[in-house]
Amino acid sequence: MILMDKLLQDKVCVITGGGGSVGAAMAARFLASGADCVLVDLKAPDLVELGLAGAADRIVCLAADVSDPADSRAYAKAAVDRFGQIDVLVSNAGNFGTVQPIADYPLDIFDQVLAVHVRGAFLACQNLVPHMRDGGSIIITSSVAGVTGDAGVHGYITAKHAQIGLMRCLAKELAPRAIRVNSLHPGPLDNSFQKAVEDGFTAATGQDGTDYFNSIIPLGRHGTAEEIANAALYLASDLSSFATGTLHMVDGGLSI
Ligand SMILES: NC(=O)c1ccc[n+]([C@@H]2O[C@H](COP(=O)([O-])OP(=O)(O)OC[C@H]3O[C@@H](n4cnc5c(N)ncnc54)[C@H](O)[C@@H]3O)[C@@H](O)[C@H]2O)c1
Repeated sequence: MILMDKLLQDKVCVITGGGGSVGAAMAARFLASGADCVLVDLKAPDLVELGLAGAADRIVCLAADVSDPADSRAYAKAAVDRFGQIDVLVSNAGNFGTVQPIADYPLDIFDQVLAVHVRGAFLACQNLVPHMRDGGSIIITSSVAGVTGDAGVHGYITAKHAQIGLMRCLAKELAPRAIRVNSLHPGPLDNSFQKAVEDGFTAATGQDGTDYFNSIIPLGRHGTAEEIANAALYLASDLSSFATGTLHMVDGGLSI
């Protein structure tokens, strides 16, 4: 029987981008469901700032650049040294890059965006899969941008599509160990990451970016980090025990 109030009891969860909006909301949801958590971000997440100080004995906060091989090995080792085997990996760190016509899109920014989302997810899996318990779960935070295209968003949209390819390879490779691998696809959220995108849209078009996105989302609003965390809890836990290789859309219908 699945105990609904303790879906992640005694599970160890590693979340990259754990100091950001979605990562911190996932950490709060996972902790409340009984998990221990390792939060990885460019700067070690501050538990007081995140409102998670009450669970400090069940959280490890680490500084690492997920795109860097040595940093990735180091955060994986620190997670394993502290907690032993890992049950859940959420590759969630992200950057946006810029919006430019193809002829002007800066190659260094294209590389930086792919490095965080694609190389970062690859390295997280490479370093942590050998330490995952059979029956675990890997979640890669992609985006509605993983299944749609938009003019000028070359780095971000290419990276978010590429994460699906990695997810599918791993879903087949790890199925014999009953490790499930799925991608999570948020739509526009009410947070600073999306606000920066919308401010750019407003500046470029003269139309309010936030209003524009609300007008094209069938549910008529932005999502919240907590709604993404709820979906992550489903994918992380045994509630999704027969789901692997799936694209889990949580986008208010934007991709319909
Ligand atoms: N906010 C949205 O509307 C939205 C929509 C769809 C998908 N997403 C995806 O959700 C994920 C989380 O984004 P968020 O909304 O919480 O934004 P956020 O900016 O609050 O969080 C992203 C975190 O990733 C960290 N990060 C960036 N580069 C890193 C690196 N090289 N190494 C380690 N950490 C790094 C940042 O420091 C930040 O804390 C991202 O993958 C993003 O692409 C967000």
